[in-house]
Amino acid sequence: MPVRKAVGGTGILPVCLVALVVQHWQDASATRRKTAPNQRDLMAQLGVNIDHVATVRQARQTNEPDPVWAATLAELGGADGITLHLREDRRHIQDRDLRVLSETVTVKLNLELASHPEIVKIACHSKPDQATLVPENREEITTEGGLDLVAHRQRIAEAMKQLHDAGITISLFLDPDERQIAAAAELGADAVELHTGQYALTTGEDRQAAELSKLADAARRVRDAGLVLHAGHGLTYRNVKPVAALAGMTELNIGHSIVARAIMVGFEEAVREMKRLVS
Ligand code: PXP
Repeated sequence: MPVRKAVGGTGILPVCLVALVVQHWQDASATRRKTAPNQRDLMAQLGVNIDHVATVRQARQTNEPDPVWAATLAELGGADGITLHLREDRRHIQDRDLRVLSETVTVKLNLELASHPEIVKIACHSKPDQATLVPENREEITTEGGLDLVAHRQRIAEAMKQLHDAGITISLFLDPDERQIAAAAELGADAVELHTGQYALTTGEDRQAAELSKLADAARRVRDAGLVLHAGHGLTYRNVKPVAALAGMTELNIGHSIVARAIMVGFEEAVREMKRLVS
């Protein structure tokens, strides 16, 4: 199949399937997108992070695989949300992806972003259902730690004001740390996404139980502060269940493990399998 166009500027969807499915779902979109997941039911909702579909595409600077197509298949597999991270260095998701996904995703669209003025401006313009503020460091392979709301309070507060003024719900990505959760409540966040990376990396039953207990304690603090509870990072088919079972867990954002499994079994099936584990 000839390669039509490298993605980066205005893109053309490579498949008619996406357009057909989108057409079919247009009516459902308006009602579903704006429904807060915790109001719909009490199970943890699955946000599928499609960044690494774009990582494979960018490895060849071409137009496939298309994260827009992956998002459609994720919805067909039962995803409650689509998550993407528009990084300042554009290493995976491109501006075009956000533009097209903003028009085509019919479930919750969750944009991860750092508090860089340029990206905040793009977010305010594209109006995802939710913005998850994360720290970003050019040298990192993936988001390494939670936000430091104490050290960067002013900058994050400014980004939050712009996003809230644009009508976007805000989730803050935090380590399971008492001070950070208290600061999130003071800053007026709507939700906190607990960073599960340390839990995911830890080996040995006792040490993993200790990390899970830290998450459970932080989850209680998030709920007690009146904030919606999310979690994500490093979650896999093997380690997700105890996190999904934490009291009040509303949303899990999972990317790498689903994309890795999708290579073997297909995107829709990989999402379906994860959805069964979290709800
Ligand atoms: N949540 C946040 C805030 C993230 O930054 C990421 C990684 O982009 C994820 C969840 C998904 O992490 P993973 O790809 O390890 O599932």
